[in-house]
Amino acid sequence: MSVLAVYLLSYSVLISYLSLSHSTDNINPPENHKALFIFGDSLFDVGNNDYINTTTLLQANFPPYGETFFNYPTGRFSDGLVIPDFIAEYAKLPLIQPYLNPGYCDHYIYGVNFASAGAGALVETNEGLAINLKAQVNYFKQISKQLRQKLGEVEARELLSKAVYIFSIGGNDYGTPFLANSSAVVLPYPPQQFVHFVIANISTAIKEIYDQGGRKFGFVNVGPLNCFPLLRMAINKTTTSACLEEEASAIARLHNNAFPKMLEKLEKQLMGFTYSIMDFYGALIELMNYPSKYGFEEGNVACCGGGPYRGDYSCGGKRGIKEYEVCKNVDKYVFFDSLHPTQSAAQHFAKLMWSGNRDITENYNLERLFNYS
Ligand SMILES: *[C@@H]1O[C@H](CO)[C@@H](O)[C@H](O)[C@H]1NC(C)=O
Ligand SMILES: *[C@@H]1O[C@H](CO)[C@@H](O)[C@H](O)[C@H]1NC(C)=O
Ligand SMILES: *[C@@H]1O[C@H](CO)[C@@H](O)[C@H](O)[C@H]1NC(C)=O
Ligand SMILES: *[C@@H]1O[C@H](CO)[C@@H](O)[C@H](O)[C@H]1NC(C)=O
Repeated sequence: MSVLAVYLLSYSVLISYLSLSHSTDNINPPENHKALFIFGDSLFDVGNNDYINTTTLLQANFPPYGETFFNYPTGRFSDGLVIPDFIAEYAKLPLIQPYLNPGYCDHYIYGVNFASAGAGALVETNEGLAINLKAQVNYFKQISKQLRQKLGEVEARELLSKAVYIFSIGGNDYGTPFLANSSAVVLPYPPQQFVHFVIANISTAIKEIYDQGGRKFGFVNVGPLNCFPLLRMAINKTTTSACLEEEASAIARLHNNAFPKMLEKLEKQLMGFTYSIMDFYGALIELMNYPSKYGFEEGNVACCGGGPYRGDYSCGGKRGIKEYEVCKNVDKYVFFDSLHPTQSAAQHFAKLMWSGNRDITENYNLERLFNYS
């Protein structure tokens, strides 16, 4: 290569570098913009698991996932959008991208989604197959560092303290032992200690984000595990009742009782800490029991899958069972596959998080958290 060619090449590299840094300087947040950082499991994952080595059980990057909104699979466990997508819309933000999306590194000012299907608060939950909460928080710390470098200490601190941090975590910690073998469940710890470990690890995650400047936190609690078509089918193929009264939901309730107490404690310890909890457990049971009250028609049977309630986790035919059916009017169903809500159910839950009253959303709702200072 001639000297001139090398010169031109490095010149064009320099130019593109300059225009790149120029354009990143220009993506200052719009007035009153508040970022959204997202942590958790498949309820909130928007495609991080497309980029890791895992199993098809923890991926949704094949049709018919994504068929409603995107017309192609994105990795969301839904026919379309998931809860954080709607929250972003209500907060007037663009869709928040998955952290592991390689094309996304310059837009962190709107927030980042770290959620990973299968993730738990405990490191050993789906270990090696999902990005656990601790690893998600470590990724967040890297973003926090980058924001400080790019925006400077003061501006980064302001962005991080005005941002809202939302979580869906715990369901996999408690659900995984029941999915392994529902007739011979082996919990890794006695129930009280199990719940204590999960909650203590979530508390640690919150404190680490608080140390980076985070102040406003939103949560959904753990769902009624035995109401999901997958577990209902595994436990009792003939029942007609929506939810089975079983150990799995009992431990979810134990968690859901202890969880707000941990947050109350943090509120006393950490100055400026504010939070919201949406009662996902109660909201899902209500929706399953009275679907027509909320514009739905089918609260029990999943849209996509096979077997009783379409409770086989076979949607897409890539998880060991090839046969599956897909419903016609997906927006009338609560469940898309046997573990995850449809886009229309996700919107219902997102609205409750955003503007729910005190019956369903404890302390603040997200609308108030976003508008709060
Ligand atoms: C993913 O797993 C496969 C098979 O176990 C392995 O060959 C490959 O190196 C792994 N890739 C990454 C990025 O870890
Ligand atoms: C987090 O969970 C682990 C089990 O995975 C447990 O050993 C540890 O004590 C928990 N952390 C806290 C702060 O309790
Ligand atoms: C689940 O446990 C029961 C009782 O121990 C056993 O008979 C059955 O084979 C197990 N099923 C699986 C899939 O491991
Ligand atoms: C399954 O549910 C049916 C109807 O609700 C009930 O009669 C039956 O006893 C249940 N079977 C088991 C094994 O729980």
